[in-house]
Amino acid sequence: MEHDSQIPEMGHVEATRRRFLKWLIAVLAAVNALIAGIPFLRSLLGPSVAAQKNEWSKVAAVDLLPQDSPVDMRFMAESGEAYLHNTVLRSVWVIKHSPEKISVFSPVCTHLGCYYQWNGQADRFECPCHASVFAPDGKVISGPAPRPLDTLESKIENGYLLVKWENFKAGVPTKIPVA
Ligand code: FES
Repeated sequence: MEHDSQIPEMGHVEATRRRFLKWLIAVLAAVNALIAGIPFLRSLLGPSVAAQKNEWSKVAAVDLLPQDSPVDMRFMAESGEAYLHNTVLRSVWVIKHSPEKISVFSPVCTHLGCYYQWNGQADRFECPCHASVFAPDGKVISGPAPRPLDTLESKIENGYLLVKWENFKAGVPTKIPVA
């Protein structure tokens, strides 16, 4: 008799387990649909919202930058879009002319996007890919680069250099931002 009275209870447990599994499958399907729909939402939002411009990044204490000597500064920057926040390592070339006047160049060669280097002995920037050469002020000295080095927006706040990272189209004579 004791055995018979347990049968309805086991049926109840089984029904509850099935309801829970159905609920779980529905939730997973909803999450999946949401993830799959992100690119569509992005297209609805349009580039102005979806590809938000990066924010200011703190690069260096101005006091610690050498005078009139280009330095390759690395910093962590927010990257990307309104709904996805990544932090990526960036680098920029920084030249402090005075505590109030600092030039900041994108490290990307304007020819086809290689990373160029500073040659301190020759006092110039050189790109290893196709031999473009740039003066310390960014002007093209020789090579196929179609425009000077790209400057980045910068400002000094509370003794720190802040930079706004941007990408520019390579291989064209004018500086055109790209998302
Ligand atoms: S990418 Fe720099 S010279 Fe071609």
